[in-house]
Amino acid sequence: MTRHPRKIIIDTDPGQDDAFAILLALASPEELDVLGICAVAGNVPLNWTERNARVICELAGKPQTKVFAGCDAPLKRPLVTAEHVHGKTGLDGPVMAEPTMPLQPGHAVDFLIDTLRREPSGTVTLCPLGPLTNIATAFLKAPDIVGRVQEIVLMGGAYFEVGNITPAAEFNIYVDPEAAEVVFKAGVPLVVMPLDVTHKVLTNRARVEAFRALGTNVGRVAAEWADFFERFDMAKYGMDGAPLHDPCVIAYLLQPGLFKGRHINVEIETQSDLTLGMTVADWWGVTNRKANAMFMGAVDADGFFALLTDRLGRP
Ligand code: BDR
Ligand code: CA
Repeated sequence: MTRHPRKIIIDTDPGQDDAFAILLALASPEELDVLGICAVAGNVPLNWTERNARVICELAGKPQTKVFAGCDAPLKRPLVTAEHVHGKTGLDGPVMAEPTMPLQPGHAVDFLIDTLRREPSGTVTLCPLGPLTNIATAFLKAPDIVGRVQEIVLMGGAYFEVGNITPAAEFNIYVDPEAAEVVFKAGVPLVVMPLDVTHKVLTNRARVEAFRALGTNVGRVAAEWADFFERFDMAKYGMDGAPLHDPCVIAYLLQPGLFKGRHINVEIETQSDLTLGMTVADWWGVTNRKANAMFMGAVDADGFFALLTDRLGRP
């Protein structure tokens, strides 16, 4: 029996680690059909993230990929960015040519809505890798699409690792906590890749050199991106390398057995200044609140890097 690739939409704010996720997805056409890529403001403003998404598609040799620009600011708050991690462009490191592939006409939110209405119900998976503004806006504008989503697999939040942008909050959730609340309360099957997992997939020297040793342009650029952004995390956390957060989402779609977690309740803090954007995860089951997310806690890091390096090396 022929298995059809799973249909996904990547919602992203590239970011070097987002770039690894997009490259991994585009290198896996047997398993994943990327219907489109929606850019959102996050790591850097929208004019950079939509440009970066196109740079990455061209690097992957997939300029026919549909890239849409989405929301340029969170639902209710001013945008917080992370140039201190990703550099001014969001993709600092190697010099990249400006993209020539076009940005699609129309807004990413309308693309999300139209696609979910057009495709058979339960056949499209959403893969958010940045703040959840585009997804929440689509759900608020067109509530009929919520029940049509197959699954959401997202990078965001933290429990044992607590926070990276504040002591209590992870960046993607912190930037737009109201949007995160909409998504976590939507009732869509949800898989969460928090810092608890992503801080275990570190770009140590051997892993970065394995990218470079691919001997391809993609391998060289991947190694140079890792060289650029790992400096920040190594200095901040004293880690061996930097976490590759966002490709955990795509790796899960390709090899779910690499990850282990618990199906638990996760709520988003939207009120407190001190803990804004915290993912309050009932890991120990101490409340009666209904489980709404598969919250990951463990990963086979060597298996993850073997998969990533193999796919990045594909012609
Ligand atoms: C998340 O924030 C961004 O800086 C990364 O791209 C990732 O999506 C990690 O907290
Ligand atoms: Ca991201």
